[in-house]
Formats: sequence, structure tokens, C-alpha cells
Amino acid sequence: TVVQADEDFRPDFHFTPKSGWMNDPNGMFYLDGTYHLFFQHNPDDNVWGPMHWGHATSTDMINWEEQPIALEPDEHGTIFSGSAVVDHENTSGLGDGETPPVIAIFTYHDADREQEGEDDFQTQGIAYSLDAGKTWTKYEENPVLDNPGIRDFRDPKVIWYEEENKWIMSLAVQDHISFYSSSNLLDWQHESDFGQALGGHGGVWECPDLFPMQVEDTEEEKWVLLVSINPGGPNGGSATQYFVGDFDGSTFTPDESIADLGEEHDYWIDFGKDNYAGVTWSNIPEEDGRHLFIGWMSNWQYANEVPTETWRSAMTLPRDLNLTQQENTYRIVSTPVRELNEYSSERISESSVEIEDSTSLATSADLDLSKAEILFEIPQLQQNQQYTFSLSNDKGDVLKFGYDHGKEEFFIDRSNSGLVDFNDNFGDKISSAPRLSESKNLKVRAITDNMSIELFFDEGQTVMTEIFFPQQAFKNFSAESDQSFKISDFKINQLKHNQE
Ligand code: FRU
Repeated sequence: TVVQADEDFRPDFHFTPKSGWMNDPNGMFYLDGTYHLFFQHNPDDNVWGPMHWGHATSTDMINWEEQPIALEPDEHGTIFSGSAVVDHENTSGLGDGETPPVIAIFTYHDADREQEGEDDFQTQGIAYSLDAGKTWTKYEENPVLDNPGIRDFRDPKVIWYEEENKWIMSLAVQDHISFYSSSNLLDWQHESDFGQALGGHGGVWECPDLFPMQVEDTEEEKWVLLVSINPGGPNGGSATQYFVGDFDGSTFTPDESIADLGEEHDYWIDFGKDNYAGVTWSNIPEEDGRHLFIGWMSNWQYANEVPTETWRSAMTLPRDLNLTQQENTYRIVSTPVRELNEYSSERISESSVEIEDSTSLATSADLDLSKAEILFEIPQLQQNQQYTFSLSNDKGDVLKFGYDHGKEEFFIDRSNSGLVDFNDNFGDKISSAPRLSESKNLKVRAITDNMSIELFFDEGQTVMTEIFFPQQAFKNFSAESDQSFKISDFKINQLKHNQE
């Protein structure tokens, strides 16, 4: 039955709502040992509709417990995407003098005003929690930031700007990001705009996130601005680009290595089709210092039509972002959070395997390949060679991924991966991504979870995330090539969520 298939597709260690629709991750913050994740949620249907903030908590970002809905629509509108901060100094005055208030800053979407043909239907509101995120009270004088008459005016992401003791809000405004500042989270002043002349503009800009990062192995600090765009992604539909530059409390200035690239600017957090609207956690303790990111594992091209009924959409694995200097520019490298290792047990380990024609590397007799971590290296890439790896089952479904060294491109091919006909944009094209590393040695890490694959190539320099819906769990993992080659340090780990 439909419902049974639904549960077969449900990921094991990625967050999904128990029932109903989900899109963007929202308002993530960490406090006292708990990671909070809120999400765009329509609890009453399996398609996008009146938005609420759903809520889930975890101590390790892998094992999630869904909580009661945090924010419901009210007279100002439904609750679109946004962020949350811990107001340690009670700058907002919304605290009770005992615990620091947690403040959620979100977009109100007033569908009635939109219907009336007005353009000012998106405003920014806040809500506060005095019990560490459990329950929320809307601020009485909402909205805190009115709309100047622009249709797309949303997704506030707020950070504390220490140098000047003020809050900075990044807001997506049609084709650019606007920055606002505030001393109290209640009154906001416009500071500057960024982006009209740089980056992808094939669609509307959404879900920004601005934060400082230390460049790996240096003392240098750069500012990173994430911007989701829909459509206009590198493989069609939704995707998240990033800009590296400097921020002085008022203006974001792109680094000189990217400043003149215009629309050619091609920096993506993930080149696969299914990682959208991702942002980072706030209030991560300094001694941890990580930039923890999570995205929505779908794409607006087909999100409303994917073949599950009782629930729809999963989040990506949480990822640890790092900024590295590469040649004359900066690149984000992302890896799954180390907490995932707690769920992993080794099943296959071989120092070296020869691949000829088509070589079986693992079957369901070894482990459950639909919840697995596959790791290997190709130690000596050969000129013009294409390396293809396949997951397949007895129904003839096959999911292929690999690397074409002639084109210097990675790829995922889900065109025969099972149910693909529910939308024309799902299985029609092979997704590709440029290789950024020049190394002769290619490292691959692939993580499956029933309906998803997350590929971290070159230790996270190029990432591809995609979803699929096989008619039966994948049972075989194999490699193919027209010329023989060797893989080394080949491992497959079983990933298992031990919630029971
Ligand atoms: C991104 C987005 C946001 C908006 C939300 C509505 O996927 O379109 O811009 O706030 O989804 O659910």
C-alpha cells in the first residue's frame, strides 16, 4: 500500500516530520546541550500550504525528536522562514530577568493582502521563548519591520555583531540581500544592499545567512554570505550559492577574487539538486566553534509531487562548514558532522580492489546498502577515464554516480533509479559538478539513507546531494569502467539509528 511504501522511503537518520509537509529549516539554535531545529511545516496536508514552524530537538543533530508546533499563523499572516538568537544581554527587554530570552525572527506572509493585489504582504515579526525554546509568545507590536512595497521581502537571519554591539539582519529582497541593524531586535535600520551585480540571478533570492569564518590554517577572517536561489541552480531549480568577502558592520564587500565575476560566479554549497534553503545554527559555543549547516533535501521543481503521501521531505545531514584558501580564492568545504560516526559500524574494509569492466563491490549479504557510508579513493586518476559506481536492485532500478576525468566533472544519474515519472524535472537530466581539486588522488565518501545520497568528493570540496525513490531497497554496489583501475582504502560502514 501507499503508506507502506511511504515508510520504506522514510530516512533513518535524517530528520523528517512524522506527518505533513516540510520545507526550509528555520531558527536553528543551540542551548544547554540541545540543538533546536524548526522547519517550514504544513501539518494539515502533504503539499505546501499555510506555513507553521514545526520543531524538533536533538543532542547530536542526528537523533531528532519532534516537538509540538512552535509557531502558528495569526492575524498578521502565516509563518515563513527565519532565524532565532539567544538574547544573552536581554537587549530586547523581553526576558524575565532570570533566563536569557530566545528570540525568533520570521517573515509574516499575509495571503489576504496578496490576494487583494497589494505588494506589501511580507513583513518581519518576532516571537520570544522564556523556556529555552519550548513555548513561544508572539511580540505584541508585530511586525517589527514593515514592508516598503516589495513582493519578495523575507527570510530574516540575525546574528550578533560583536564589534559594534548590535544585531545584523540579512534579508532576501527579490534579487539582492538587504542588511539591517538593531540594538534591541525590535527597531531596525536599513544599512546596505548587496548582490544585484554578482551571482546567479535565474530566480528569486531567498534564505540568506551572513557569518564570519576563520580561513583554515590561518589567522585570517572572512565573511561568508549564503544565498538560496530558485530557480537558477547549477542543475536546475533550487540551489544555494555562497559569497566570500568582508563585512564592516554595515556593508558586505565581495572578495576581489570574485568581485568581477558577475553572473559567472559559480560558488555553490552543493551541486546536487536536493539541498535548498540551508543556513547555520546560532549560539554555538565558542569552544566548539563549528559552523553547523543543514538544508532542505528537495527542490521546488518537484517537492510537492515526490511519491510519499503521509509525510513529505527530509533535511540533509547536518554539515560542518570550513573555509579554505584555494589558489587565489576561498572555498567552502563541507563534511557531515562528526556526530554521525556514533551511528556507524564497519562492515567492509579492503586496502585495495581491482575494477575490471563491471565489478561487484558489495551486496545485501554484506550489509544494508540503503543506509550506508561508502568510502574509497582512486589513487591514480587516468587521463580521460570515466569512473562509474552503481547502486542497484532486483527491479532494475539503478542509481549511478561518479567522476569523468576527461571533463573533470562529477555526476549523479538517477534517471533509472525507480519512481521518476511523477515530475518531468526529476529524472530527465544527469546532474554534474565541476571538480575543484587538482589532486591525482580522488577521495569519495557517499552516504545513503533509503531515499537519499550525499556525495562528498575530495573531502567535501565538491558536494552533491540527491533524492530517489527505488521500487525496492538497493542491494548491490558495483563499479564500472572501460579501462581497469584500482580503488584503495575501500570501506563500507553500516549506518544505524539506534533510537529503539
Ligand atoms: C524558500 C522559501 C522561503 C519562504 C519559505 C516559504 O524555500 O520560499 O523564501 O520563506 O520557503 O515556505
